[in-house]
Amino acid sequence: MRAARIHAYGAADELRVEDVPAPRLGPDDVRVEVHAASVNPVDVKIRSGGQRAVVWLSLPATLGLDLSGVVTEVGARVRGFAVGDEVFGSPSHRRMGTYAEEISVRANELARKPRNLTHLEAASLPLVGLTAWDALVEACELRAGERVLIQAGSGGVGTFAIQLAKHLGATVLTSCSPRNFELVRGLGADEVLDYRTQDFEEVAAGVDVILESVGGEAVDKALRTVRPGGRVAAITAGLPSLTARYGPALGLGMMVARTLKQALGARVRRGVRLSFVTRRPDGQVLGRIAELVEQGRIRPVVDRVFDLGAIADAHRYVETGHARGKVVVRVRPEDP
Ligand SMILES: NC(=O)c1ccc[n+]([C@@H]2O[C@H](COP(=O)([O-])OP(=O)(O)OC[C@H]3O[C@@H](n4cnc5c(N)ncnc54)[C@H](OP(=O)(O)O)[C@@H]3O)[C@@H](O)[C@H]2O)c1
Repeated sequence: MRAARIHAYGAADELRVEDVPAPRLGPDDVRVEVHAASVNPVDVKIRSGGQRAVVWLSLPATLGLDLSGVVTEVGARVRGFAVGDEVFGSPSHRRMGTYAEEISVRANELARKPRNLTHLEAASLPLVGLTAWDALVEACELRAGERVLIQAGSGGVGTFAIQLAKHLGATVLTSCSPRNFELVRGLGADEVLDYRTQDFEEVAAGVDVILESVGGEAVDKALRTVRPGGRVAAITAGLPSLTARYGPALGLGMMVARTLKQALGARVRRGVRLSFVTRRPDGQVLGRIAELVEQGRIRPVVDRVFDLGAIADAHRYVETGHARGKVVVRVRPEDP
């Protein structure tokens, strides 16, 4: 089968589409014919080696953490999926590899694809949907009537999180640049701030919850901005820059020390709960996300679609940091 692999950590040119053996199927796994994948910023971080303290790759390795496709085989212990089912999902890091014509995934990391979406649309949702869910529903327990700041509302996580927060009954303030104001308002944002000219510490002062995705100093700022007793979910802990500076082991140690200090300080000084969220692969949550999509409460926002053969260009585009919604990879040419 064809797959996009890296043989060494490095720039986007390291991604090569080549013939590789088909994946093995375990008793709890489902084999999926992949129709579409998506590119997430974490793929870029993994490719460049910035995550190597926490994501151990045996090189050469196939990247990719989102898929939509069709079940072609089920493992002996699998219940609930059959050959021919259309599924979507986000495998765990240890089982990544959706930039490929086939993948073997743990069945409990998959759900039925929303019936009203194409594979290209469905592949855009799992990783960002699970992240937004873990941040807003699980970590921050966002409630109806609360005011939430969603940073980078025009990005992959942000476009999903705005819609999820509105579904939960919150008032949504979001940040992006003016060219994306119309997009985020169309997704339900009540207030929009231009992060290039406005300081969110002033505009969002006193919000109940912040979904922080910018990282660096923005995390400390978020802890000062949220109301006393509020909640902050941070999804960017800055591991790649610490790894580049100090190497993987020391970089990881410094990240852990810094995040613990931030969380403890915020709790002691202002009663603020800071959670560092990492996406948890979970087929049940994905099933609930699929229901929201089928009910029309959440829609995918696909910016650009690249063929698997142009995967390096897809990475370069995501690396600009200015995608509008999601960047999707067409794995099967027949998918419109
Ligand atoms: N912890 C986890 O499990 C997890 C999961 C998913 C993502 N993440 C991380 O979260 C971050 C965001 O992910 P993503 O997929 O949403 O990224 P993305 O799609 O690449 O985000 C792009 C968007 O960010 C906006 N943006 C750039 N700089 C900004 C700033 N300073 N303030 C506000 N908006 C800004 C851009 O808006 P304009 O073009 O309008 O400037 C663009 O629309 C990444 O670092 C990613 O690695 C973590």
